[in-house]
Amino acid sequence: MSNASVPTPEKRQIHLTVNGVAHTAFVEPRWLLSDVLRHTLHLTGTHVGCEHGVCGACTVLFNGEPIRACLMFAIQADGGELLTVEGLAHPDGTLHPIQQAFLAHHALQCGFCTSGFLINTYAFLQTHPSPTMSDEEIRTALAGNLCRCTGYQGIVAAVRSLIQAQSLDATDEMPALTAGGE
Ligand code: FES
Ligand code: FES
Repeated sequence: MSNASVPTPEKRQIHLTVNGVAHTAFVEPRWLLSDVLRHTLHLTGTHVGCEHGVCGACTVLFNGEPIRACLMFAIQADGGELLTVEGLAHPDGTLHPIQQAFLAHHALQCGFCTSGFLINTYAFLQTHPSPTMSDEEIRTALAGNLCRCTGYQGIVAAVRSLIQAQSLDATDEMPALTAGGE
């Protein structure tokens, strides 16, 4: 078959707001959101591991909810607001408190899973988890993300420190836990 007989895939225009920045992109209907984030918008902090919804490495916030970007077509995200790991740190480079906690508690080794854990932890903290939560309950809350390196101990310790810090914060706004771009 010559190239001339291969139909050109039709691209659709979509609009996404990612980390507070408006983007317009032209995507084929089959393109995954994870691939558009990485290859079209060049936001490579969102990692792709299994590409079928198991590992959680591709977790991003979509309209405030954690989703697996490898399980959503980019055109399904049209008009949506996304938070990726690039949106956590302050524009001046100051790490987000969640990133600082992961650093302090040695919650990463190779780092491949880390962006997904950071975003899922961000979403988890928005639910105001109880400071009396057990390690097992924290592990269950983060069970959608897999890590092959750490044994999870440092991740649980980091998340626990964040839950405890949040419980000491008397304000509802929790300014320290908003994303860097906000
Ligand atoms: S790459 Fe999406 S869940 Fe593994
Ligand atoms: S730090 Fe390597 S997979 Fe989690």
